[in-house]
Amino acid sequence: MATQADPHADAIEEIFTTVAALAPDIRDALPGRRVQNDETNPSGETQLAADIYADELFREHLGALDSVVEYASEERTKIVPTDGEEDTGLSVAIDPLDGSSNLKSNNTMGTIVAVYDAPLPAAGSDLVAAAYVLFGPITTMITADGDGVTEYLVDDGVREVITEDVQLPDDPSVYGFGGRVPDWPDDFTAYTEDIESDDSMKLRYGGAMIGDINQVLIYGGVFAYPALESAPNGKLRLQFEGNPIGFIIESAGGRSSDGTQSLLDVEPNDVHQRVPVYVGNDELIEQLEASLD
Ligand code: F6P
Repeated sequence: MATQADPHADAIEEIFTTVAALAPDIRDALPGRRVQNDETNPSGETQLAADIYADELFREHLGALDSVVEYASEERTKIVPTDGEEDTGLSVAIDPLDGSSNLKSNNTMGTIVAVYDAPLPAAGSDLVAAAYVLFGPITTMITADGDGVTEYLVDDGVREVITEDVQLPDDPSVYGFGGRVPDWPDDFTAYTEDIESDDSMKLRYGGAMIGDINQVLIYGGVFAYPALESAPNGKLRLQFEGNPIGFIIESAGGRSSDGTQSLLDVEPNDVHQRVPVYVGNDELIEQLEASLD
């Protein structure tokens, strides 16, 4: 992870500032872009006009930064080389509108950004920063730069600090698990029963990873999009979702796992590869890994 003397500190700041500055444009564009496009993204999901608009906007603005040499997005098949400084440049992998199926029902969505100091596909251990913007009742942004996690209000495209050094609370209270329950493997079902038997824990699942992660960060708890019987690698993508969220949760004192190891240790082999995602308070992920053993 990056340190205070990180040679990439200015570049990371520039990327975060650019993403925050685009948040109002993305938000303003949503009402008119709820319609489906005729295309599917590389993971086979139906694209909305809003997904494509957000992807193009990020490619244009992040791709124009000297500090960025590669741009990859969940919405496009190929990695786009950009004109940044080859020797020092960073690779950006972005999920432009995470949870965009929530647009129709007007529920939470977000943007996830992963900044790697390596060509894509890269390992989580190559991350130097990660962030997400949460389009909830208000727009907030969480950043992790290797030197702590910060929560911001994004007002008119400008970040204002809400909380510095965000840490998962010690007394977790929420859980959210994706995938169809009959499709869960027996060992994961057994784990969920253990979690449910703890009367301090309550179910909250919104169907947009960013919203479901943010509640874990704020209240403490566990989020999983598990390996499924029908999809042993689950649904979420390593480069755009698993790695950046693992980096943020671990930077905030929590833990991430693919079932056996930290998400940041998963070997990358394809830019659109999927991975089971389990993140949350340390003891809950330890319990999960013991259950899946
Ligand atoms: O990757 C897209 C996504 O919308 C995530 O944000 C979310 O966690 C997941 O899919 C929801 O999937 P499901 O509709 O199966 O609950």
